[in-house]
Amino acid sequence: MARLVVDPAFVVGAVDRRLFGSFVEHMGRCVYTGIYEPEHVTADADGFRQDVLELVRELGVTAVRYPGGNFVSNYDWEDGVGPKDQRPRKLDLAWRAIEPNQFGTDEFVAWSGKAGVEPVWAVNLGTRGIKEAVELVSYTNLPAGTELPDRRVANGHEAPYGIKVWCLGNEMDGPWQIGHKTAEEYARLAEETANAMRRVDPGLELVACGSSNSGMPTFGEWERVVLERTYDLVEHISLHAYYEPRDGDQASFLAAAEDMDRMISSVIATADHVKALKRSDKEITLSFDEWNVWRQQDFPGELGLGIREVGPLIEDTYTVDDAVVVGSLLITLLRHADRVKIACLAQLVNVIAPIRTEPGGAAWRQTIFHPFALTAKYAGPTVLRTAVDGPEVETAKFGKVPALWSTATYDERTGEIAIFVVNRSETDKIDLEIPLAPGLTVTEHLALYDDDRGAVNSAADPDRVTPRRIDGTELVDGVCTATLPPASWHLIRLT
Ligand code: AHR
Repeated sequence: MARLVVDPAFVVGAVDRRLFGSFVEHMGRCVYTGIYEPEHVTADADGFRQDVLELVRELGVTAVRYPGGNFVSNYDWEDGVGPKDQRPRKLDLAWRAIEPNQFGTDEFVAWSGKAGVEPVWAVNLGTRGIKEAVELVSYTNLPAGTELPDRRVANGHEAPYGIKVWCLGNEMDGPWQIGHKTAEEYARLAEETANAMRRVDPGLELVACGSSNSGMPTFGEWERVVLERTYDLVEHISLHAYYEPRDGDQASFLAAAEDMDRMISSVIATADHVKALKRSDKEITLSFDEWNVWRQQDFPGELGLGIREVGPLIEDTYTVDDAVVVGSLLITLLRHADRVKIACLAQLVNVIAPIRTEPGGAAWRQTIFHPFALTAKYAGPTVLRTAVDGPEVETAKFGKVPALWSTATYDERTGEIAIFVVNRSETDKIDLEIPLAPGLTVTEHLALYDDDRGAVNSAADPDRVTPRRIDGTELVDGVCTATLPPASWHLIRLT
């Protein structure tokens, strides 16, 4: 038995809708035969797969980061604009695939418009620097009248794109990154680049690179050094994290949100430490611009990949448990909605993605699609704090943790409360009680779980795993009661 308390008076913060972002990288089949496949039967005049566009809209994604990822650290954006038959084929050093450059800046802006998402751009601070970043933001954001925006106009795009959010490089702390740097080297380059980009467009929102994951030896120190130099020039610091079951330890995997939660808290602490040192009134917010479940143990590493044409890469097939973990990570992001303003499920299509496609064939929803789509759809504008009194589970990685991981949102306009909760126990169902103010009713209770926790969706069986409607959840005498099976994700909507 567990008791969950929620009250519209206990507010965490407003939800920035960019929390429901995703990520498109020139990696594997995310772009080619993912979002872009001119030969596909559903392709529109731009070559965009409309079956994929429909799923992207259904997923409820709000912002999409592009073009990488590790790819961006050796990308020459100029190769991807202008007449397609004059664009070069080039070896991408990040993933060692031959980039055909048939999809680039103008195509991604057009695709974003059709998908109804805000593009979030990353600049190359690996092989390139200040000049190229300034030139790119001039190409995208300046009105006609000088060389670079005139090139955009010549390429058929009169109006400036007005791209607001820009990431200053990608994972620059990682030794795997082309052009990776020490914290001091990166901080200096980020400061200079941010300063120059703002001269082109003072309205930019800039994201400084944080650590690639919480296990990096420089985690914490990296953020301090970078923010001490860039504090006045950037709005956000980035975080990345990928989770996977290791050595059969599914209990720790189901509790992966503990790591994300601690990572967010410590980056906030570091940012606020720098704020105090600088005696600044400004608060740095967080862009969790890569997160997901990823079985990295199966990845051979960049040098394990031969030089080849673009083809499948890290196309993880997601299980029911993976979807429960993704649901719990979304709960964590919402729990920190006061400081996390942007978050990107990495990636969007085929590459560790909620949407899978076959070249020339079908597109379908992976298991992780469902908790994301339902959270994006039903999370209200304000996050409320939840307090849970209930059982704990023992994990090898995090020790004893609460079995239930939860958050709630409130919509003042409609009075709707949405409760998101995961049962992280592998063995025990939990009977949950939620005392509520008079007048509320249960609109619906949707859940994701399965007797076969390893079940997956596939082209042959695309709806093997879908959310179920739970009928037994009721509200009697001001108490809502629900039963949560082991390893399950839930959305309880109350009006
Ligand atoms: O999303 C896959 C890769 O993971 C990205 O390119 C990189 O930023 C991260 O290490």
